[in-house]
Amino acid sequence: MASQKKIASLIICVLLLLLLLFLLPIAFSEPTRNLDGISARAPTVQQIKKRHGTREVVVDNGIIRVSFSSPEGLVTGIKYKGIDNVLSPHLRARGYWDLMWQGENIRQGGLDRIEGTTFRIISQTQEQVEISFSRTWKRGDPHIPLNVEKRYIIRANTSGFYTYGIFERLPEWPELDMGLIRLVFKLNPERFHYMVVADNRQREMPTEADRDIDRGHAKALGYKEAVQLTHPHNSMFKNQVDDKYQYTCEIKDNKVHGWISTKSHVGFWIISPSGEYRSGGPIKQELTSHVGPTALTTFISGHYVGADMKTHYVTGESWKKVLGPVFIYVNSDSTSNSPPDSLWEDAKRQTEKEVKAWPYDFVASSDFPTRRERGTVTGRLLVNDRVLTSGGSAYVGLAPPGEAGSWQTNTKGYQFWTKTNETGHFRIDNVRPGTYNLYGWVPGFIGDFLYQNRVDVAAGSEISLDRVVYEPPRNGPTLWEIGVPDRTAREYFVPEPYKNTMNPYLNQSDNFRQYGLWQRYTELYPNHNLVYTIGASNYSQDWFYAHVTRKTGDLTYVPTTWQIVFQLPYVNWRGSYTLQLALASAARANLQVRINNQNTWPFFSTGTIGKDNAIARHGIHGLYRLYSISVPGRLLRTGTNTIYLRQAKAIGPFEGLMYDYIRLEEPSSD
Ligand SMILES: *[C@@H]1O[C@H](CO)[C@@H](O)[C@H](O)[C@H]1NC(C)=O
Ligand SMILES: *[C@@H]1O[C@H](CO)[C@@H](O)[C@H](O)[C@H]1NC(C)=O
Ligand SMILES: *[C@@H]1O[C@H](CO)[C@@H](O)[C@H](O)[C@H]1NC(C)=O
Ligand SMILES: *[C@@H]1O[C@H](CO)[C@@H](O)[C@H](O)[C@H]1NC(C)=O
Repeated sequence: MASQKKIASLIICVLLLLLLLFLLPIAFSEPTRNLDGISARAPTVQQIKKRHGTREVVVDNGIIRVSFSSPEGLVTGIKYKGIDNVLSPHLRARGYWDLMWQGENIRQGGLDRIEGTTFRIISQTQEQVEISFSRTWKRGDPHIPLNVEKRYIIRANTSGFYTYGIFERLPEWPELDMGLIRLVFKLNPERFHYMVVADNRQREMPTEADRDIDRGHAKALGYKEAVQLTHPHNSMFKNQVDDKYQYTCEIKDNKVHGWISTKSHVGFWIISPSGEYRSGGPIKQELTSHVGPTALTTFISGHYVGADMKTHYVTGESWKKVLGPVFIYVNSDSTSNSPPDSLWEDAKRQTEKEVKAWPYDFVASSDFPTRRERGTVTGRLLVNDRVLTSGGSAYVGLAPPGEAGSWQTNTKGYQFWTKTNETGHFRIDNVRPGTYNLYGWVPGFIGDFLYQNRVDVAAGSEISLDRVVYEPPRNGPTLWEIGVPDRTAREYFVPEPYKNTMNPYLNQSDNFRQYGLWQRYTELYPNHNLVYTIGASNYSQDWFYAHVTRKTGDLTYVPTTWQIVFQLPYVNWRGSYTLQLALASAARANLQVRINNQNTWPFFSTGTIGKDNAIARHGIHGLYRLYSISVPGRLLRTGTNTIYLRQAKAIGPFEGLMYDYIRLEEPSSD
């Protein structure tokens, strides 16, 4: 008996020792980052004939294997790390480019998945494979009058693939409107549950089925994208709101987002190394990832801008644009205890590498200029505001020629943006050859900067603009101001979200992304309206973030009039005062300004403006507008004055405005 015990304990000792020997290297090795078990073999392309005459193209680099329908060019499979397909089981909704268009007559148009009709191998070397799926337009074709080419690049030793599109229209082709172009991936819902958009926006997500109103899983809310999850599969989501617009992101920050399978320790990411091919400038907000699981990237859209976006092409107008490349990155970390952290950190590191490698030197199309074929523009932006002269940290960018601020609505050309350093110096690298205007704006100052001369960038050129001077609108010294000129309503009073519809994963600093905040106005001001007294009120507490309608019944809403009350110890009767009114957003609104008499014809009116829907979509800004309104001194009084701001449109909850900043200026003394 005793010897049996001894043998048993000896065996246990040996086993423990073996276990320790096995564990030691794991404990002390570098944590396995991505790409455990890398393969550096040359990528292959295979064309496979399938049943029913369909064809498939398969590209494989030993790390991932990507399948495409051919010649349509839809991504039908991504095999990675023993997962046969990370994409959705639904064949029609896996990985695709699509666009929304409208032809000359109402019957033409709709959503087009731009399926190719021709497959070509562009290049195949030890290092990489580039393939193309294209469709050319001929008169009489029912689909969008556009030549479209979708390219995919798979490189050796790379855990992912690149894709870009080349879109072209000839001048003699019919008129059309094209409001949306995007690239969409739908992932396998059995695997991907955890979504990451930013450090402070990531979470376990509800499922598509949780949003199903017909089956009683969810309740409809103010508009179709937002639902309340009344009977979700997982009770942790109970009563939360799901709305893809809670996960939107400004283009300048929209570099990487995606999904994680915590069970398989696999991540799927869309990496956008550049903003040059997007539209609407660096602070336009776009969708990222959302319930599906869906991950997408948008090249053209009206999100947070609406119908003001320039998406119409007239007869005689030609257009060609390369959209992308973007990188579809997959990663894994089999040893991590916390896959969301390690995979997200790795995705961010990979994003830095992609940004550094931009413009990619391995893109075959001559429509994508290499680094050497691009130019650089440098300079120094100074602000001359009579009061202040300082560079600050401003935004400067090259965009297609137009008026000041026109980059906000431009979808047709490329844009190249950067920020100045503290002394106003800027350097814009990797600019495609072409003719641009130099635009900009400076946080802390109102208005839009436009450099007076066009900027012609040639291949390999370095253009030094030396000093460029922005003179922000100002007609006289400040009497008072409300808010800060930063093109958002962020600094105003953003109310607490409703406990019963809260999305608990939105970080406190992003409270404006919560659902239903606009309804708080009616609760805070049940039968009177906002009155802001200069000198006594505080804009971060007393200025509601959005000028919305008031709910008066189940389906009835009325316009609201806000008041700014201020004292003038002295009035220059002959002088002209200026009301600088900067808006951060407008949706089907009409802002009327009256001074000291609420019952007169409005002294100033914007007319109906805006379709950016930033209130409904929880953006804290949409399109920026500035009105410099001159106010004759005779309208003012010595003593107490009141400016009435009436938003006169009220059909439902979403007509309204957000203010960026308001300032009253004295007549200038010169
Ligand atoms: C493959 O890529 C990894 C990570 O990017 C790199 O460390 C390694 O040197 C590459 N191997 C080859 C053979 O290029
Ligand atoms: C700003 O950039 C200029 C030009 O590159 C440089 O000379 C200057 O030192 C920079 N200033 C700061 C504060 O970084
Ligand atoms: C919210 O986000 C900010 C900025 O990213 C961060 O500093 C802060 O710690 C976050 N707070 C919470 C509660 O996550
Ligand atoms: C206004 O309110 C904010 C937030 O409550 C506070 O931090 C700030 O100090 C106040 N400003 C003034 C001038 O009282």
